[in-house]
Amino acid sequence: MITKRWSVDNSVDKEDSYSQFSQAADLLKNNEVVAFPTETVYGLGGNAKNDEAVRKIFEAKGRPSDNPLIIHIAEKGQLDAFVAEIPQNALVLMERFWPGPLTLIFNLKDGVLSHYATAGLSTVAVRMPDHPVALELLKKTGLPIAAPSANRSGKPSPTTADHVWEDLNGRIAGLVDGGPTGVGVESTVVDCTGEVPVILRPGGITREQLTEVVGEVIVDPALADESQAPKSPGMKYRHYAPDAPLYLVEGTKEDIQHFVDDKKREGLSVGVLTTLENKEFYCADYVYACGQREKLETVASSLYEALRFFNTTDADIIFGEMFPGEGVGHAIMNRLMKAAGHRVISR
Ligand code: TXA
Ligand code: MG
Repeated sequence: MITKRWSVDNSVDKEDSYSQFSQAADLLKNNEVVAFPTETVYGLGGNAKNDEAVRKIFEAKGRPSDNPLIIHIAEKGQLDAFVAEIPQNALVLMERFWPGPLTLIFNLKDGVLSHYATAGLSTVAVRMPDHPVALELLKKTGLPIAAPSANRSGKPSPTTADHVWEDLNGRIAGLVDGGPTGVGVESTVVDCTGEVPVILRPGGITREQLTEVVGEVIVDPALADESQAPKSPGMKYRHYAPDAPLYLVEGTKEDIQHFVDDKKREGLSVGVLTTLENKEFYCADYVYACGQREKLETVASSLYEALRFFNTTDADIIFGEMFPGEGVGHAIMNRLMKAAGHRVISR
């Protein structure tokens, strides 16, 4: 399959630029799959009402069919068609954070969306992305669009069109290049079907921001478990993983350098995942600064690029710094722990 690629040209008039990808909207309406930018990561979109379109998404990604997709909408009014009810907490959260990196779980109204999109569950995940290209594309189709991150399953999520191209060229009908995404980690997934909202996946909207608006918010206990390092991580944790094994180091820069030196003595090629503040300190084969520790949002926005960087090198092993788990650090640590297969070491 030939993958068409369009660029959104910010230097020309908005209307002219958007007309370039009306073809992308037409492909979506014809139940083809198209990747597009959102404010978090690139998504791989398909008509959520159509079995064929949704099957194409799973096929292109190589995604297990029991993992449900997020439905993307451009207007709140689209919800009533496929959501059973909108709880009060959800109303407040939508009002405050949509469009934005917040996905809400609702009870599903049956018979509208493809069962493949919701993996046969009785609930559905929905979000309204805060990106002009995504919103314009969604409006042009008028459809609820199912869109997981546009990476091959298991790989880091794509934050540039080139990442999508690397993973999916030849496997999807189209790609709209809208430049690099901003937030860099995926949306926060919050279950709103119970009395108290539950964070199922930390992301771009922090727990602190949610609490400010709705009061008590619980973090899914399964997430807390994940942050402890199991002795032998199962395959289910291989997500976002770079090709070389990543070890997170609980300790100082000196501790990390100590591990690097050890591996150098064994003759291995060694990478270090750090931040701008510490970049000059390390002596290793590859030292990659992922944003600024003092500004965690910059770490979030370059995290996946950093993980993909090591795949372009011959690094045999990577050592990474850890981050505080508050604010957007919650999402950063959640993704890093998965990328590291929960391997945390200390001296
Ligand atoms: O920022 C994002 O959310 C990006 C962009 C493209 O919008 N999308 C994204 O989709 O990250 P994906 O498919 O990579 O992750 C969707 C997550 C998965 O963890 C899935 O299990 C969860 O949402 N999910 C979907 N439907 C659910 C449901 N009904 N109940 C619980 N979790 C659900
Ligand atoms: Mg994903």
